[in-house]
Amino acid sequence: MAIRQILRAGHPVLEQVAEPVVDPTTDAIARIVGDMIDTLDAAGASGIAAPQIGVSLRLVVYFAPSQRCTARPGDDPLDLTVLVNPQITPVGDARYEDWDGCLSFPGLRGRTTRWERIRLVAWDLDGARSERIVGGAHARTVQHECDHLDGVLYPTRMTAASSLGFVEELTDAGRMTPRISVRAKAHLRGQTALLDRLRRAGVTLV
Ligand code: NI
Repeated sequence: MAIRQILRAGHPVLEQVAEPVVDPTTDAIARIVGDMIDTLDAAGASGIAAPQIGVSLRLVVYFAPSQRCTARPGDDPLDLTVLVNPQITPVGDARYEDWDGCLSFPGLRGRTTRWERIRLVAWDLDGARSERIVGGAHARTVQHECDHLDGVLYPTRMTAASSLGFVEELTDAGRMTPRISVRAKAHLRGQTALLDRLRRAGVTLV
């Protein structure tokens, strides 16, 4: 498929409420997911939502790399996963603050407060429903990506606008630990059901 241009903040598609996916099992949806995987891998990030490549559909591709997991409950690593029409609800009332970043705001980070644990319901490309409880950094990624489906970008979740800064400055100042770049395709090898589905749809990753 193709590495697509990532829309930056200010583009109207990023502010729209995305449409539900009517049928997750079509080849057309698999092709969009193929582009999302290629684009995510090239960007070295851990999550992307379809509106970021200009497709206003409720689709997320993400993974939870072990090197970013915290000791918080439910913060478990997860290989590359497609979320179709995801729904999240908080589990408990605990929230916590941490750094947030977004491919649509390149080079920037800001402090946001998000739920510590959430229940996540979603469908996959075979139309199978899954439900799991996730926490910590894993849950923060899911909340960030699901916000994109509602046209919500992380600055509106920021605890204080004054925390916004550039990655290089924040890390030089010791206010943020440097992020390790992560590659989506390294977290795809064991995902045989997803790889099968993409293959059947004629999707070749670049
Ligand atoms: Ni984002």
